[in-house]
Amino acid sequence: MASGCCVFVLFSLIHVSLSVEMTRLYGSFTSPNFPQPYPDNQHIVWNISVPDGHRIKLYFTHFSMEPSNQCEYDYIQVLAEGNETLRFCGQEEKNHESTPRNTVILSAWNLMSVVFRSDYSNEGRFTGFQAFYTSEDINECLSKIDGERVCDHFCHNYIGGYYCTCRQGYFLHDNNRSCTVPCSSQVLTSLSGVLTSEGYPSPYPPMSQCDHTIHLPEGYRIILDFLEPFDIEGHPDAPCPYDMLKISTAGQEYGPFCGSIPPGRIDTGSYQVHVAFRSDATGKNKGWKIKYTSIKTDGSLT
Ligand SMILES: *[C@@H]1O[C@H](CO)[C@@H](O)[C@H](O)[C@H]1NC(C)=O
Ligand SMILES: *[C@@H]1O[C@H](CO)[C@@H](O)[C@H](O)[C@H]1NC(C)=O
Ligand SMILES: *[C@@H]1O[C@H](CO)[C@@H](O)[C@H](O)[C@H]1NC(C)=O
Repeated sequence: MASGCCVFVLFSLIHVSLSVEMTRLYGSFTSPNFPQPYPDNQHIVWNISVPDGHRIKLYFTHFSMEPSNQCEYDYIQVLAEGNETLRFCGQEEKNHESTPRNTVILSAWNLMSVVFRSDYSNEGRFTGFQAFYTSEDINECLSKIDGERVCDHFCHNYIGGYYCTCRQGYFLHDNNRSCTVPCSSQVLTSLSGVLTSEGYPSPYPPMSQCDHTIHLPEGYRIILDFLEPFDIEGHPDAPCPYDMLKISTAGQEYGPFCGSIPPGRIDTGSYQVHVAFRSDATGKNKGWKIKYTSIKTDGSLT
């Protein structure tokens, strides 16, 4: 861009705006007329897309564009979802800081757009750029989902994707990621007993769904005591959004319970109690243990 007055009348009237789709696994592209100087008033977008599970590596083997403060006049801009937008200008042979130099630009995922833009005038003649790209497999096993590993137990990367497997005794949940243990729903009929989360007090498995029933003869009422350690993943401001323990009888519900303070004794007043436990995909908490006793409704303790 030339500063000052009167360049106005010299504007080129030809504006070019183009978009080019690139879907091969590798390729190259250049500024228009390369290696001759590029024309004014260009806006060209190269949209590179490679198969899922791959990322794009882009590098420039030649770079010479009009330098400007913050590359506001002529520039190359690189956009990729999950990455900050990069902007380049200037001349490599003059060691300008704003050129891509020898860096390889990596996308986070499988799409990348490269924008070439020239404004209405160049103070010098700049030869533009030549760029190459290749695709490479993403090793998803090295990445994290919400700060947790991609797979609970074992992760297997392959070209274009990955899959999870579990240690013996566990099975892969439908979310393809969590390793859980089938919960055996228990029906307890003794007059007293205990119920615990799976593996208590080792961390209970993710994605559990356990439903237990204490079923005594009519004429008894069940009393529940929650033992220490009591440790169910909770949240300070929301009622048990992740994992929860719920107690119910025909007439009443107790809970949801979570956190690290055991609930107080519950005299259910009922001879039949349902204990439900749910856990989500993440967290390592010790779980819960309930000791129950019963009282004959005439008042004698069993
Ligand atoms: C090219 O990619 C950009 C940004 O990702 C998008 O907005 C645009 O629609 C794409 N163009 C074409 C022709 O697909
Ligand atoms: C884009 O994001 C990926 C993954 O977070 C990272 O490895 C890569 O270095 C980033 N590239 C740029 C140019 O910031
Ligand atoms: C789990 O994997 C199966 C088979 O690969 C696929 O059909 C299903 O959509 C996946 N489920 C989820 C939640 O990703």
